[in-house]
Amino acid sequence: MTSDTPARRRARVFSRRRGAPSRARRRVGAAVRMLAALALAGGVYTAFTPGAFAEDNTQLSTAAQQGKQLFDNSCISCHGREAQGVQDRGPSLIGVGSASVEFQVGTGRMPMARQEAQAEEKTPQFTPDETKQIAQYVQELGGGPQVPAGSLTENLKENPEALARGGELFRVNCTSCHSFTGAGGALSSGKFAPALHDVTAEHIYAAMLSGPQNMPVFGDNQLSPDEKREIITYITQQLQQDKDPGGIFNLGGYGPATEGLAIFLVGITILVFTSLWIAGKS
Ligand code: HEC
Ligand code: HEC
Repeated sequence: MTSDTPARRRARVFSRRRGAPSRARRRVGAAVRMLAALALAGGVYTAFTPGAFAEDNTQLSTAAQQGKQLFDNSCISCHGREAQGVQDRGPSLIGVGSASVEFQVGTGRMPMARQEAQAEEKTPQFTPDETKQIAQYVQELGGGPQVPAGSLTENLKENPEALARGGELFRVNCTSCHSFTGAGGALSSGKFAPALHDVTAEHIYAAMLSGPQNMPVFGDNQLSPDEKREIITYITQQLQQDKDPGGIFNLGGYGPATEGLAIFLVGITILVFTSLWIAGKS
């Protein structure tokens, strides 16, 4: 500030005098905005903090309360409190419905032991009752598709038309991944569509409703509940009964050709050893 002329000094004093009230106003404005932001953040925080409404368990049915306890012990680490999901660990379960839980827990896929491309099928860790309780809890938290109660193949088993329709629907909708015999097959990037030979009617229904992994969701608009039942009838009454493709010893379930090969190999080995033995004698 070498050239502080009187004119400039006057100008500065003038501007300070004029600026004073506006700066105060600005300060008040900033404070108001700050308060508003704080209030907003607080509101948003309260709205999204599970605790705000979570501890109010009174709305949960008894089964769901039991399910919540199991969930809090075994699932919370990856799916979070109130099943909101945890970044990079497990997805939100809000809206997946009891069907998805019954499928994932009932087939032993969940709880997942470690992060992998595709949750492995294991011996289920929970009894069917416990599985239903966890499913009920997730259902009451966020709603979603449910497997209908009662037998899924009643009245259809003895009905050849239902069986035929089920077969047709299966061929159109399912064979591209699970193959014509239901033996399953490999998909891209280390994933696979499993065999359908041991799966229960309820889990087939739940799989269609929830579309695990690469499997599409077959909602009730794509396949009506009756069509789902027909497909299930076809899988359980036909595919699962026919899975033995023939042959007396059922070697690897691959049919008579495998057995022919096995008998041939055993025969050759016996011949070789017999000739060696004869050669050794002479
Ligand atoms: C180690 C972490 C982990 C644990 C523990 C775990 N999960 Fe999961 N869960 C995952 C991951 C990751 C996925 C997505 C996997 C996939 O797509 O195959 C998933 C998917 C699911 C799904 C399918 C969601 C959908 O979109 O349909 C359900 C349901 C589920 N888990 C329920 C449970 C329940 C119930 C438990 C406790 C009994 C549990 N999980 C424990 C990691 C976990
Ligand atoms: C695009 C490929 C694809 C199609 C089409 C498909 N699925 Fe799947 N399916 C899968 C995959 C992948 C899995 C394994 C999911 C997992 O392990 O989480 C699976 C799993 C299943 C399971 C669980 C099997 C078990 O052992 O637990 C059933 C049941 C099933 N599918 C039935 C069906 C039916 C019925 C249809 C036709 C309406 C169908 N799928 C169509 C890919 C497919």
